[in-house]
Amino acid sequence: MSRLGDEVRAVEAAHVLQVYRRLPVVLVRGKGCRVVDDDGREYLDLLSGIGVASLGHAHAGLAQAIADQAGELLHTSNLYFHPLQGEVARRRARLSGLARTFFCNSGTEAVEACLKFARRYWHARGETDRTGIVAFDGSFHGRTFGSLSVTSGAAYRTPFQPLVPDVRFVSPRDAAALEAAVTERTAAVIVEPIQGEGGVRPIPPATAAALADRCAATGTLLIADEVQCGLGRTGRAFYSATLGLAPDLMALGKALGAGVPVGAALLGERVAEAVAFGDHGSTYGGNLLACRAASVFLDALEGGLIERVAAAGVRLRAGLEALAEASAAVGEVRGDGLMWGIDVTADVADRVVATALERGLLINRTAGTVVRLLPPLTIGDADIDEALERLRQALADAAGATSEPAP
Ligand SMILES: Cc1ncc(COP(=O)(O)O)c(C=O)c1O
Repeated sequence: MSRLGDEVRAVEAAHVLQVYRRLPVVLVRGKGCRVVDDDGREYLDLLSGIGVASLGHAHAGLAQAIADQAGELLHTSNLYFHPLQGEVARRRARLSGLARTFFCNSGTEAVEACLKFARRYWHARGETDRTGIVAFDGSFHGRTFGSLSVTSGAAYRTPFQPLVPDVRFVSPRDAAALEAAVTERTAAVIVEPIQGEGGVRPIPPATAAALADRCAATGTLLIADEVQCGLGRTGRAFYSATLGLAPDLMALGKALGAGVPVGAALLGERVAEAVAFGDHGSTYGGNLLACRAASVFLDALEGGLIERVAAAGVRLRAGLEALAEASAAVGEVRGDGLMWGIDVTADVADRVVATALERGLLINRTAGTVVRLLPPLTIGDADIDEALERLRQALADAAGATSEPAP
């Protein structure tokens, strides 16, 4: 590491709460799908800050919009109107079919808001004991008390118990268990249409069908957590629609601000009518900076980005499937569009990520054995091909095999 790198590490070690195990690299700038470290070394970024830098790095339109907005007005609080919230909410409604937005600042906050609004709905109807939540094994919804309570992993949960009560977990592969768990006592079911942190696992169609049926039969609210898989990531606006699900509430974040912290809880009118002045709020939520960034992202999404992701996804899928075929280290490849998980054994996963870094490729490991790719939604064909070649080499290195180019 460089001198700057050493200094950064030393000062962080002394003063930053040690909750992240960082890789040994200090990133200082970027452009498109590439980022550069303090030594001037370039990396292909196939993770985009865990699915956040949706338009790539240093996007000219976003940079200009943020600069313009900073020169005008950044924040007013939600005590006053400003010109941008209504318009951004209207565009989200058009995209999702859910009429109303609550503006917040992260995926976790969006989940938290959805859980509160689901509770509020049953309370408003006088069913104050209808508080049960059903969630799925392998889920990740965030780390605040509400969102953590519906997150399944013991490592996330155990040190912070007791959590919010009345949450039941079912396996995403057990439709019968789901049918039994969702009753007239269930306030809501929360689902990631593709589990992200859980290893890039789409909800099986049979489970999705049972979920839709049970929610309809019992009146249970459906919350789709599209924080990671939504907003064009899979080559569709939202993956819940692909599964035949029509959520009452939706949590959004990550790609929405293209790097500016933006979250949103979307609600259909049925639930929105139950929420009253003062029920929930956020000082920063929906400020002008956040709305301006979201507008730039929505411009791109509505301007052909979803179709572009679908095409790029076909190329990436083909390349990953070829890699899986050629590498004994790879078990399964799962995903859609520009969201992929490559299942390898646990010890290889860490080595793949480390050797990829050495070869100038940013990826990460999730759910123990899964190497995950979440590139910028704007990635071009040449960058996909280059990333696939670096990944092939990293897999070969990690598996201890030769890294000569394929014939
Ligand atoms: C599906 C899902 N929900 C919620 C969250 C929490 O989002 P944030 O880290 O922005 O609070 C994440 C983060 O990875 C996520 O993947």
